Amino acid sequence: MLYSEKVMDHFMHPRNVGVIENADGVGEVGNAKCGDIMKIYLKIENDIIVDVKFETFGCGSAIASSSMATEMIKGKPLSQALELTNKAVAEALDGLPAHKMHCSVLAEEAIRKAVQNYYDRHGIAYDPAAFAFDEHEHEEGEQA
Ligand code: FES
Repeated sequence: MLYSEKVMDHFMHPRNVGVIENADGVGEVGNAKCGDIMKIYLKIENDIIVDVKFETFGCGSAIASSSMATEMIKGKPLSQALELTNKAVAEALDGLPAHKMHCSVLAEEAIRKAVQNYYDRHGIAYDPAAFAFDEHEHEEGEQA
């Protein structure tokens, strides 16, 4: 079986799908190679992610990754959301095939972008280097 039961479950029954009107932070990323797009909406109170929703126009692994990633950051502090790696998302899904690891990278990046967007909107200072995706090492990410 190429995909774990968890991947299939989160693909067939994705959690937290949708839009948050008046979200505090929104992050959108795409993968130029496959053309898939992921958008994450965050509702933040006192540095805690009180709600999160996503819209993913993409493959099953991208949908499962967004679903799992949103579950992993819901109710958590922003600092924890920023530490979420695509590898942790893939592990929580009981693994992704190697050529599908890049799909989980979208989830990591979309969350980071949404947090950055929240900081920007609220004039909260941060180290831009911490958000430089290209310098970030991804587990088997961004490969052809
Ligand atoms: Fe593009 Fe999965 S194939 S995100």
